[in-house]
Amino acid sequence: MYATERAARDSRGRPINKGRKGAGLLASVSPILRGYGMSVDVHRHGRGSIVALHSFRGGTGKTSITASLALAVAQHGARVAIVDTDLQSPGLHVLFNLAEDTLGRTLNGFLWGAYDIEHASFDIGAQLNTRAGRPITHPDSFFLVPASIKAGEISRILRSGYDVNLLDAGFRRLLEKLDLDYLFVDTHPGIQAETLLCLSVSDLVIVVLRPDQQDFQGTAVTIEVARKLAVPNLLLVINSVLESFDVEQVRLQAEETYAATVAGVLRRSDDLLRLASSDVFGLCFPDHPWTREIGRIADRMLSMAH
Ligand SMILES: Nc1ncnc2c1ncn2[C@@H]1O[C@H](COP(=O)(O)OP(=O)(O)O)[C@@H](O)[C@H]1O
Ligand SMILES: [Mg+2]
Repeated sequence: MYATERAARDSRGRPINKGRKGAGLLASVSPILRGYGMSVDVHRHGRGSIVALHSFRGGTGKTSITASLALAVAQHGARVAIVDTDLQSPGLHVLFNLAEDTLGRTLNGFLWGAYDIEHASFDIGAQLNTRAGRPITHPDSFFLVPASIKAGEISRILRSGYDVNLLDAGFRRLLEKLDLDYLFVDTHPGIQAETLLCLSVSDLVIVVLRPDQQDFQGTAVTIEVARKLAVPNLLLVINSVLESFDVEQVRLQAEETYAATVAGVLRRSDDLLRLASSDVFGLCFPDHPWTREIGRIADRMLSMAH
C-alpha cells in the first residue's frame, strides 16, 4: 500500500494524488461505478498493492512493459503476480512462453464461476530463473493468471460479458492466497467497465503512451477518469520514443500537459521489434538501455511503497 504522506510528486514537487479518496470525489465517482453495476469498496484491501497498467490505445507496449516491470520488481525480492485482464486480446502468456494447450485454467474460467482465481495462476518463477541465467530471489514468487486464447471463450466474453465485480474479489483473493507484494494488472486498452473497475481498485496506475497525438489525446481522457476515480498514485510511462527526440523534452512536455509524474521514457528499439513478443525483453536483454529504464521505473515504484 502507498502512504498518503509519501505520495509521488511530479518534477516540480507537486503531489500527484491531490484527489485521493476525498469523500466528495468518491461521491462523484459512485454514480459512474453504479452505472456499470459495480459495488466496489474503492481502495480497500489489506496487504500488497495493485498496480494497473493502462493505455488508451492498443499497441503502446503496455504488455511488454508489464512483463518486464513485474520481472524487475520480482528481482528486488518481491512476490508478484500478473493478471491478463485484456480478455478480448490476451497476450501475456505468449511473452512467458505458456503454450496455448497448457492454458487449461484461465481468468475466464474464474469469471464464469468454474474455480477460484488462484487455481488459474501459473507459478512461472522457476522457468524465469533458467532463462535469465541468474536467479530471481525466490523461485516461487512469480505468478501469471492468463486469459483464454480460445476463440469461443473470447467471443463468449464479447457476447455475454461477465460480472466485473468478480475481478475486484479475484484481485483481493490473489493478493491474499499467493501472499503477494504486487499484483500487476495488464488491462484492455480504452475506457470500459473493466477499466473503471481496475483503475478504481488500484493503488498505482501506470498510464503508457507513445509520443503520438492520438495517444496524447487519449491519455488525457484516461487521466481524467483516473483522477475522478481517486486513484491514489498515477505515473506515466512514455514508450517508443525515437532516437531523434530529446528524452528530457518529451518528459517535460508530458508532465506539463498532464500535471503528472513521468516515471520513465523508453526508446523505440529494434531489438524489441525483433523479439516480437516471443519472450520477456528484460529476461533476454537484462543490460539493454530499455531494460535499465524499466529498472528505474521499478525503483521508483518500490520507493513509493511502505
Ligand atoms: N519501445 C519499443 N520499441 C519497439 N517496439 C516495441 C516497443 N515497445 C513495444 N514494442 C512492440 O510493439 C508491439 C506491441 O507491444 P505490446 O506490448 O503488445 O503493446 P500493447 O500491450 O500496448 O498492445 C510488440 O510487437 C512489441 O514488441
Ligand atoms: Mg497488450
